[in-house]
Amino acid sequence: MSGFSADWLALRAGADARARDTGLAARLGAYFSGRREVRVLDLGAGTGANLRATAPLIAAPQHWVLADHDAALLARAAAAPNTTIERREVDLSAELSSLFDPAPDLVTAAAFLDLCGADWTERLVALAAACGAALYTVLTYDGREQWSPPDPLDTEVLAAFHTDQRRDKGLGPALGPDANAHLSAILRGHGYRVFEAASDWKLALPGDAALIAALADASATAIAGAIGADRANIWRTARLAARKVMIGHRDLLALPPE
Ligand SMILES: C[S@@+](CC[C@H](N)C(=O)[O-])C[C@H]1O[C@@H](n2cnc3c(N)ncnc32)[C@H](O)[C@@H]1O
Repeated sequence: MSGFSADWLALRAGADARARDTGLAARLGAYFSGRREVRVLDLGAGTGANLRATAPLIAAPQHWVLADHDAALLARAAAAPNTTIERREVDLSAELSSLFDPAPDLVTAAAFLDLCGADWTERLVALAAACGAALYTVLTYDGREQWSPPDPLDTEVLAAFHTDQRRDKGLGPALGPDANAHLSAILRGHGYRVFEAASDWKLALPGDAALIAALADASATAIAGAIGADRANIWRTARLAARKVMIGHRDLLALPPE
């Protein structure tokens, strides 16, 4: 078990799909146009949401290696049209380099990079650069949040949430909201051409009511130790009544040097 339930991944899937930047998606498709086959490594693949959203962007037949330490999530992943899949149950803190043999053409991850630490991210980029793989990371949390209507506790809660985001989740002290900027800088250092865009969740009642409620619950639980259970509960109650929520994310496409 990873701490990410299949229900949570299913709940967020619609907002994720709407948020992905279409310009970067088109650029990814153009980069691989004319290829006979594309080998893809998906890190923290979960139930395969990234496969379902990314595979249709690439015209060539694809072989996807889905890497995750949660066997129950991986078991729910299924091949998409034009793809074959291979499930790899691995703890990515211990096993990363073996996933680069055979070498992938594309390394991708969705809603994953913010869980990772600086050293791990540097190792990842070094491995990708060594085999000339492109990188496509989507829906990396970037720290911006806007809840409407605002609540007096929002600023304090966000600061506490960011502290929680930076906890070590098994891959080193997590970069949390700094993950995308850090990844981008490392990639540029390796000579990659880096393209970035916002992929914010824009949630509103009534369609996103369940996701807004789940976010309010999860955030209040995460920060209760820092601001006290009573105040966390006051914030949670206010946020369960939020009409609109923006959660900031970034998508990034890195193409190897020409
Ligand atoms: C937020 S979920 C994203 C899942 C999927 N990419 C999606 O977009 O639905 C993060 C995923 O990373 C996986 N994960 C977290 N730490 C891991 C580790 N050390 N090794 C392998 N997988 C890990 C979790 O099991 C989970 O499936």
